Amino acid sequence: MIPLPTSTSHWIAPSLLSADFANLADEVRRLEAAKADWLHFDVMDGTFVPNISVGIPVLASLRKVTTLPIDVHLMIVNPDPLLPAFAKAGADTLTVQVEACTHLHRTLNYIRDLGCRAGAALNPHTPIDCLDYVADCLDFVLVMTVNPGFGGQSYIDSCTKKIAAIRKRFPDLPIEVDGGIKNDTIGRAAQAGANIFVSGSGIFAQSDYAQAIAKLRTNAA
Ligand code: DX5
Ligand code: ZN
Repeated sequence: MIPLPTSTSHWIAPSLLSADFANLADEVRRLEAAKADWLHFDVMDGTFVPNISVGIPVLASLRKVTTLPIDVHLMIVNPDPLLPAFAKAGADTLTVQVEACTHLHRTLNYIRDLGCRAGAALNPHTPIDCLDYVADCLDFVLVMTVNPGFGGQSYIDSCTKKIAAIRKRFPDLPIEVDGGIKNDTIGRAAQAGANIFVSGSGIFAQSDYAQAIAKLRTNAA
């Protein structure tokens, strides 16, 4: 299984949702050269979120062109039946939305049994209490800082205190943040205790990915 960040690390995970899907291999090569830590791969089903993105065949193709960890964010209802296929296609992490899982504890254990790191994602309105009861089978938490479904939305500032609350309650749990992470917001999330920073439009809107990632890292620190 892939390594996880320590509670003081600042890892950058570009979200491929904002990449040029017609040139994905080239985009990935540029992100590798730009020193991305993880590649964030957003899967949407048109039901859990009002949008559809990419799925298993695209993940399998991507796996062939990169050795970077692929961080798979499943914004889909009832993920369990599809988890083995995502693991087989090359996912290193599988993150499920807690709102979409009736048996979250079972789902997280299933992800680990498949050899992947298990993540639980919380929508902006979702309280953190459920984490208490799944802490033993959780590798990291994903705090959504926008309502999931689209790239390019604005950071919801009330989520900053949620990051801080999780950090306080779980001092060693890696915290990933996703949504509206840019140069002007990454510092707030980092200060509150986040370690893995997903950024889509914040990176892909720049022509120089290396410079964009380096700048995010500087602003996180
Ligand atoms: C949104 C996705 C994000 C999205 C982030 O539902 O989970 O990963 O790509 O995009 P930005 O960084 O543009 O907000
Ligand atoms: Zn995402």
